[in-house]
Amino acid sequence: MKVIRTVREMRAAVAAARAAGKAPVALVPTMGAFHAGHRALMRRARELAPWVVVSLFVNPLQFGPAEDYGRYPRPFDEDRAQAEAEGVDVLFAPPVEEMYPDGPSRTRVTIPGMSEVLCGRARPTHFTGVLTVVAKLFNIVQPDLAVFGEKDGQQLALIRRMVQDLNFPVQVVGHPTVREAGGLALSSRNRYLDAAETERARSLYRGLSRARAAWEAGERDPARLVELVVETLAAAGVEPEYVELVRSDTLEPWTGEGPAMLAVAARVGAARLIDNVRLGS
Ligand code: PAJ
Repeated sequence: MKVIRTVREMRAAVAAARAAGKAPVALVPTMGAFHAGHRALMRRARELAPWVVVSLFVNPLQFGPAEDYGRYPRPFDEDRAQAEAEGVDVLFAPPVEEMYPDGPSRTRVTIPGMSEVLCGRARPTHFTGVLTVVAKLFNIVQPDLAVFGEKDGQQLALIRRMVQDLNFPVQVVGHPTVREAGGLALSSRNRYLDAAETERARSLYRGLSRARAAWEAGERDPARLVELVVETLAAAGVEPEYVELVRSDTLEPWTGEGPAMLAVAARVGAARLIDNVRLGS
């Protein structure tokens, strides 16, 4: 596996791979601190493409001023070993000055409305930062396909929308959420939780699973499905930032039509956690 630090070298490497007949090219964008969720995305990419690039870049543009950019985990040597073990061809890990040579990019990609709901309410600049860096990564790596986790359901919906609206020639592949045995969705931020908080954090998926069982038994009232999650969280002493049933493609409230996603965000200890389940698909 090659570690590449510059845009120039990355472009040269992808051109050489294509010239050698290695296509499709797959990209897995990440911020590192790999866990089994990231590794599942890498394996999926490996199944779909003979040439796999993983980007590792903790993107300052997507962190709010009071968020954890400075203390976000950066275990580079372990990350490199894990990507290598998954058969990744290139780890693209540019320094901040390489991605934002003139300070934060002035051009921003945003999707009014969709960027502002759900997590966008508490994190008003977050998704603009995500879309801007993903657009840059698509232009630098020029992949044929890119793999993203369903765990970040709003992010996935926004990226699909951006690709469609801006005509990126990239196929977006969504991959199911990987969980620990207790149901908690794996996240780099789970390391902020102690044992008692981890137990409380498991109430997110417990609540979503109760609502899914109700859905499968025929419940279609959004308020009732939301209430099942809120109740389960309350029993664990967790107060949600939001629990909402939305269309997974437009993120508008689900009113009976289209694919549904039940999404939750809650703070547990020092960690802000998110999770979701897809209903009816
Ligand atoms: P990061 O949080 O590192 O996540 C990288 C990818 O891993 C995302 O597509 C995310 O949805 C996926 N992922 C995280 N936890 C997962 C889990 N438990 N199961 C399945 N997939 C999981 O998301 C980002 O980085 C950034 O916003 C990024 C897209 C790289 C832009 O900076």
